[in-house]
Amino acid sequence: MKKIGLTVIAALFATSFAVSSSFAGEGDAAKGAKFTNKKCTICHSFGDKFKKKGKVGPSLEAGVLGQKAGAVDGFKYSKGMKKAAEAGLVWNEANLDEFLTKPKKFIKGTKMSSFPGIKKAANRANVIAFLKTL
Ligand code: HEC
Repeated sequence: MKKIGLTVIAALFATSFAVSSSFAGEGDAAKGAKFTNKKCTICHSFGDKFKKKGKVGPSLEAGVLGQKAGAVDGFKYSKGMKKAAEAGLVWNEANLDEFLTKPKKFIKGTKMSSFPGIKKAANRANVIAFLKTL
């Protein structure tokens, strides 16, 4: 009887931990890869990672975390992105989260304006976790 009680408590604890960790911004890279394949490959290429290799946006195959914004060779960025880059924007988890929430709000005049953004924080965290693996 005692054993069952402990198992239930352990299970409850594990569940609440899983929920709170996703709110803390720790994403799931595998889920992020799926989401990225669905939502981003229309415009972005990720090398050979996915079938679709969109060219409307810069190739993200080398990943972006820790990189200067607007730095993919050969891509014609918007004035807004160029300005942000000149002002010293370097992609990290916090500013990517903000950009992906609503691109045109974060960078005025961005060419990624037709992408409305990712509403759910957990989905953004997953995408960022995936981008970190590149
Ligand atoms: C409708 C096409 C489109 C979709 C969909 C799209 N993007 Fe973009 N993305 C762009 C364009 C165009 C740019 C260049 C923006 C600029 O020059 O202002 C861009 C820029 C970016 C950048 C900045 C790259 C750099 O070199 O600084 C990141 C990061 C990015 N996109 C991530 C994503 C992710 C992740 C998704 C999916 C959730 C996504 N994008 C979906 C078109 C798109």
